[in-house]
Amino acid sequence: QERLAGARRVAVLTGAGISKPSGIPTFRDAAGLWKDFDLEEYATPGAYARNPQKVWEWYAWRYQNVMQAQPNRAHALLAALEKRVGEGFLLVTQNVDGLHRRAGSSQLVELHGNLARGRCEGCGQRFSLPDPAEFVPPPYCPGCGGRGRPDVVWFGEMLPLGAFEQAEQAFVQAEVALVIGTSAEVEPAASLGRLARLSGAYLIEINPDPTPLSSWADCILRMGAVEGMEALMAGLN
Ligand code: APR
Repeated sequence: QERLAGARRVAVLTGAGISKPSGIPTFRDAAGLWKDFDLEEYATPGAYARNPQKVWEWYAWRYQNVMQAQPNRAHALLAALEKRVGEGFLLVTQNVDGLHRRAGSSQLVELHGNLARGRCEGCGQRFSLPDPAEFVPPPYCPGCGGRGRPDVVWFGEMLPLGAFEQAEQAFVQAEVALVIGTSAEVEPAASLGRLARLSGAYLIEINPDPTPLSSWADCILRMGAVEGMEALMAGLN
């Protein structure tokens, strides 16, 4: 953590693994969502076009789950790290569970959207979904009345405008890049860690399992996000 102590520019990428201690399933782990659900049936534009109600019911179920979950210590320590580093800190997450913001992170980019929002199929307006207890999908746009879809990025879709560019810039400029809880298999997020390393950053990976990124890492904390973040932050005052 001596590298982290003096760093002015820190870029962090998180994946589903950081939310596993909060009880939210990952995708490719043993009990991951893609083991129980065929992603072609739930997380593609074609799936939604074929059966919007089925897709919405799955997202409404996930939305209810994440709203009942609590941020864990790893989320909290990342919020503390942001305050310590200041404006040179950026947290880029692939997660759509909203737990980083609830833990207090504000310098945050949600690359894949957020389960608590809908997006109008007509005018494109983004809007908050009703409380999970009252939410009966599909939602309708508060602006034009058009049907809303989940405001998440499906396979084959573009990322939110500007999100990846902002993430890329942070990782290219980073002195320290920290990649936590991602299988590093889904592009373009998976390339951010390598990009930082190739741009001269000190690359740290926190993951109990090896990933394609592991061979690029300067430091591997082969453990869970909570243990890894506690180890990293231990030496910082
Ligand atoms: N702490 C940290 N990492 C963990 C933990 C833990 N407690 N438990 C498991 N992991 C690791 C797993 O070893 C795995 O490498 O978290 C990673 C989760 O990988 P995925 O399930 O593939 O999740 P993610 O990398 O976020 O997926 C990327 O794929 O399905 C799409 O859009 C979806 O954003 C998602 C993207």
